[in-house]
Amino acid sequence: MSARIIDGKSIAAELRGRIAQATASLTAAHKVTPCIAVVLVGDDPASTVYVRSKAKAVAEAGMRTFDRKLPAATNEAELRAVIAELNADRAVSGILVQLPLPPQIDAHRIISSIDPAKDVDGFHPINVGRLASGLPALVPCTPLGCVMLAKTVHTSLAGFDAVVVGRSNIVGKPVAQLLLAENCTVTIAHSKTRDLPAVCRRADLLVAAIGRPETVRGDWIKPGATVIDVGINRVAGEAGKPKLVGDVAYDEAAAVAGAITPVPGGVGPMTIACLLLNTLRATCAQNGLAEPAI
Ligand code: GUN
Repeated sequence: MSARIIDGKSIAAELRGRIAQATASLTAAHKVTPCIAVVLVGDDPASTVYVRSKAKAVAEAGMRTFDRKLPAATNEAELRAVIAELNADRAVSGILVQLPLPPQIDAHRIISSIDPAKDVDGFHPINVGRLASGLPALVPCTPLGCVMLAKTVHTSLAGFDAVVVGRSNIVGKPVAQLLLAENCTVTIAHSKTRDLPAVCRRADLLVAAIGRPETVRGDWIKPGATVIDVGINRVAGEAGKPKLVGDVAYDEAAAVAGAITPVPGGVGPMTIACLLLNTLRATCAQNGLAEPAI
């Protein structure tokens, strides 16, 4: 069997096109333009690249964006003052504080200081709790993208055995909550799980968010399963040239799975598209407007 490739790049491009249309209608009808403030503390190279690509996508969707770049030595009180200012600014619909933060800053306290209505990352405890309670919430972007990709393969995920490998607050836990809301039977596996390959082999839908390259092997996969690979790992390729690989051994897995996301070009592009979607949703909610159908 050779798996269907889930083309996240083109699915995300289509989604971004629909979001741009909805944004244009919102601006034309209500004179409201979504605006996202991206806060970057320090000059971590990976974060700088992420922030630049986010800003480009936001602008392409017809939204406004501005970056607040703060020095690496910024303390927690200074960062909280910036967030308080953005919370109070009615022109700002979304606030994204790029993680990781420098060690002198407590990320949990910072995330909790963002207005939950502007929390387009979906990391605030209020949004986490709302998602877990089945209430409308701003939902973390990568997990939302994973579920959207799975739903391009299956119109309903109800009754699926879903296995999520990884228990981070950013991906593993929220993707498990979203899959539960889709009526999957969800298992969260992690580094202490006994016989991880056997647990993975039960999955009709396998989400790999481990953060270690090519950990999930072909013989961990149930024939015909849908595999969503969240990993982005830089490894040495041919002649030592760096290349990106996922948390799944792609060639082995593609020979067994029914459908699989590639790396790059799978989950990654969906994360930014979902950030735009959250920003649009947040803007509508803040202005008492119905959410447009996307
Ligand atoms: N750093 C890596 N991924 C993310 C993300 O999704 N949101 C934020 N704010 N920081 C990140």
